[in-house]
Amino acid sequence: MSTAPVTSVGVVGAGTMGIGIAYVFAAAGCDVTLVEPDADRRAAARGAIVGRAERMEEQGRLESDRASHVSDTVDTAESVSDLATGLDLVVEAVPEILELKHSVLRAIEEREPKLLGTNTSALGIASLATVLARPETFIGMHFFNPVWTMPLLELIRGANTSDATVALTQRIGEFIGKDTILVNDIPGFATSRLGVALGLEAIRMVEDGVASPEDIDRAMVLGYRHPMGPLRLTDLVGLDVRLHIARGLSESLGPRFTPPQLMIDMVERGDIGKKSGQGFFDWSGK
Ligand SMILES: NC(=O)c1ccc[n+]([C@@H]2O[C@H](COP(=O)([O-])OP(=O)(O)OC[C@H]3O[C@@H](n4cnc5c(N)ncnc54)[C@H](O)[C@@H]3O)[C@@H](O)[C@H]2O)c1
Repeated sequence: MSTAPVTSVGVVGAGTMGIGIAYVFAAAGCDVTLVEPDADRRAAARGAIVGRAERMEEQGRLESDRASHVSDTVDTAESVSDLATGLDLVVEAVPEILELKHSVLRAIEEREPKLLGTNTSALGIASLATVLARPETFIGMHFFNPVWTMPLLELIRGANTSDATVALTQRIGEFIGKDTILVNDIPGFATSRLGVALGLEAIRMVEDGVASPEDIDRAMVLGYRHPMGPLRLTDLVGLDVRLHIARGLSESLGPRFTPPQLMIDMVERGDIGKKSGQGFFDWSGK
């Protein structure tokens, strides 16, 4: 019988992604500590993880009795300094701000985890690793929302990431039920670069009057078997989030990622998608 590649895991940041990442490791049988400085978020996060495990178990999508393991073992902490030393893996999932990630990564490294992952969606692994003493154990672990259902784990190898770290994270991906892809440390990786390119072109097509947002999305859903159209997906991710990524990619990869004026105008108006109730589609009441 093969042994689990990780048993003790820390996750830093209990937002949308941190909650999902903590869940998948706990559901796989690991002991998980979730770090979150905001007391309300910290309390809500544990409830969300245990509740998710119970629902998954009821639906037969989680081994029986696993929900009680999740409930017994998921722990929360206020600060990175509360993490035990020498954890098998710590995954950083704090907001996409370079200085914040630097200070959090430095603090995590002081806890001497065997492996350190970042869930950044667009920042370079090299730029994050500049503050680390052991960049060979550092790797991009890009999960997708909602983490419990999305099958992909995009691994991003930094210039100093070791072969052993890559191999171990590939095994970890398999262990938590994800399919991994391995990508070099080039801005936008594989997913953000392609996904944002498609989204930006769809927005330019709205600007150009090619068709309605509904029909542009239907083109990709019915003609290319995409599960969801690029405009609906942009609404779900948030136009503000995608605008931020597009600006970063236009600086590094050139003008093909320049955000369309329509996108800038919609963000300025507050029409940022599902979370505001209005984007390319009306989400009020949803
Ligand atoms: N939301 C997505 O769909 C998505 C998908 C893939 C990757 N990402 C990436 O994941 C990361 C987190 O995104 P998110 O959407 O979960 O953000 P979020 O804003 O929902 O959550 C971030 C959490 O980190 C906490 N935090 C802030 N400072 C902290 C600190 N010093 N120590 C511990 N926790 C701290 C915040 O209080 C918050 O709860 C970002 O890098 C983002 O780019 C997001």
